[in-house]
Amino acid sequence: MKIFIDTANLKEIREAAALGLLDGVTTNPSLVSKESGVSFKQLLQQIVESVDGPISAEVISTDYEGILKEGRELAKIHSNIVVKVPLIKEGLKAVKTFSEEGIKTNVTLCFSASQAVLAAKAGASYISPFVGRLDDISMNGMDLISQIVQIYRNYDFSTEVLVASIRHPLHFVDACMIGADVCTMPFSVIDKLFNHPLTDLGLEKFLSDSKKISQ
Ligand code: G3P
Repeated sequence: MKIFIDTANLKEIREAAALGLLDGVTTNPSLVSKESGVSFKQLLQQIVESVDGPISAEVISTDYEGILKEGRELAKIHSNIVVKVPLIKEGLKAVKTFSEEGIKTNVTLCFSASQAVLAAKAGASYISPFVGRLDDISMNGMDLISQIVQIYRNYDFSTEVLVASIRHPLHFVDACMIGADVCTMPFSVIDKLFNHPLTDLGLEKFLSDSKKISQ
C-alpha cells in the first residue's frame, strides 16, 4: 500500500515526508486555492523538491486541446508530475494521448466502476475513486473500490487504484484489505493512523516501571 498526502500545503507535506512513510502527493484546485503568495507552478516546484514520488497536478481545462496544452506544461516541470484529469469524455481522450506521449495521468472524480474501466482503457496511470463523497450521499464508497480492484484484476489492467476522499483510518484499513494500490489522505488522517490508546497507556507504564530499574 502506497501512502500519498492529499494537500498542497508545504508544511504538511514536509512534516509527512519527514515521517519516512510518504510515497507521493495529490493536489486539486480546491486544495491549491488555500495556499496564498505563490503561483501554482512555483508551488509544484517546491513540492517536487520536498517529496521524491508521484505528484498529481490537476488541469482546469475541460476541452481536449486545452487539457493537452495544460498537461504538457505541467509535465515539463518535473518527471514526477502526474497530470490529473477529470473523468469526462474530453478528459479521457486527452489521457489516451498523454499515455501515447509517456505522460503519467491520474483520472479524478471517479464515482462508478464503468468510469474506472474507461479510464483504464484510455491508459490512465491512476484512477481516483472518491470514497468519502460517496459515503456522504449514503452510497458505500468502499464497495466501489472492491468492484474496481476486481475488474482491473479480471482484465489485468495496469492502472493503479488510488483511493481518494479518505476521511478516517477505517477507510485506509478497508482499502488495504481490498488490495487497492494507493491511499491519499489529508495530514490529519495520516496522523491518526499512528494512534492507539493502549500504545500510549502501555508506554506510560513501561516508562514509569523503568524508573525502578537500577542502572
Ligand atoms: O483530492 C481528491 C479528494 O481526495 C478530495 O477529497 O475530502 O474533498 O472529498 P474530499
